[in-house]
Amino acid sequence: MAGKTVAIAGASGAVGIEFMSVLEKLNFPVKTLKLLATKRSAGKKLKFKGEDIVVEEMTPSSFKGVDIALFSAGSSVSKEYEKHTLDAGCVMVDNSSAFRMREGTPLVIPEINPEDAKAHKGTIANPNCSTIIMLMGVYPLLKKHPVRRLVVSTYQAASGAGWAAMEELKNSTRAVLDEKPFTPEKMPYPYGFNLFSHNTTIGAEGYNEEEMKMVKETKKILHNDKIAVSPTCIRVPILRAHAESINIEFEGNAPSEEEARKLLADFPGVRVVDDRAKNHFPMPLEASGEFDCLVGRVRKDLSMPDKALNIFIAGDQLLKGAALNAVQIAALL
Ligand SMILES: NC(=O)c1ccc[n+]([C@@H]2O[C@H](COP(=O)([O-])OP(=O)(O)OC[C@H]3O[C@@H](n4cnc5c(N)ncnc54)[C@H](OP(=O)(O)O)[C@@H]3O)[C@@H](O)[C@H]2O)c1
Repeated sequence: MAGKTVAIAGASGAVGIEFMSVLEKLNFPVKTLKLLATKRSAGKKLKFKGEDIVVEEMTPSSFKGVDIALFSAGSSVSKEYEKHTLDAGCVMVDNSSAFRMREGTPLVIPEINPEDAKAHKGTIANPNCSTIIMLMGVYPLLKKHPVRRLVVSTYQAASGAGWAAMEELKNSTRAVLDEKPFTPEKMPYPYGFNLFSHNTTIGAEGYNEEEMKMVKETKKILHNDKIAVSPTCIRVPILRAHAESINIEFEGNAPSEEEARKLLADFPGVRVVDDRAKNHFPMPLEASGEFDCLVGRVRKDLSMPDKALNIFIAGDQLLKGAALNAVQIAALL
């Protein structure tokens, strides 16, 4: 591939910073890299391949001459800038929720539905991080053994809500240890030594936005309106990497545990961590900084052993849930 001019919109953010290391590690053919953020960050220097690059304030004219823009600056910013990006002839790979469910905009996990990316009209959406991590554990099984229903509970890290949430987790934990009062600002409740229902708005049926993203995006990515998803999304006091407990009910008989482990181990982007003797299974600490999603606790569902399996997965949502998946999409173009 010839060298590309790449822009990162939201370069100073939790996901933005990861884009640089992913581009470097995947040896993405970057001719020129443009780092964009708000006026607050303009002038800051960030390192790419050992060289300092100065962050610029993003404006409508920032995308002139840019081939690919990796957006991670929030959905209102993506909506505001899509036209400017596409008018400049640039392809937008967007990490926000702005266009994920829009008809005609591909929603892509490169290991699962790479062919969808080809139909893009300028914008390709990166799925929600919890959806990506869940499907990385489910798809290797579903590909061979169709799935009827997924019951999933998430254990979501602070980094999923950006820098400010990570800082708040540290500060609120420190406050508990120091027996000092703490008033949360970014999160709705004190985060240290606590957990709470995902901090997105709850809809009429009692499900929050994160849960509904998992329901709707799964159907779009898999091109399967029938697959049932029953999610519960929880924030846990972990700095980085989401974990998910998933019950998978198959249309026919469930694969054996042995076959399931083999299907998972053979799938790109998945690493099986399933050592019962050592009680060693996927953990956010071991998933942090990893490109692979870790899958383990593969076991028959005792309540319907012929039909369902349980798995536990941990994945770095700043990487496979965001920056890595987006750069993999860019590499498909
Ligand atoms: N965190 C995750 O795991 C994750 C996963 C998937 C998707 N996402 C999505 O990625 C986006 C960013 O998330 P994050 O966690 O990286 O948040 P973050 O740490 O708060 O960073 C936000 C970034 O956006 C920039 N920004 C904000 N408003 C802007 C504007 N008007 N013009 C230009 N840049 C602007 C900020 O620049 P300043 O530093 O100058 O303020 C910063 O670089 C969100 O849409 C989020 O939903 C996040």
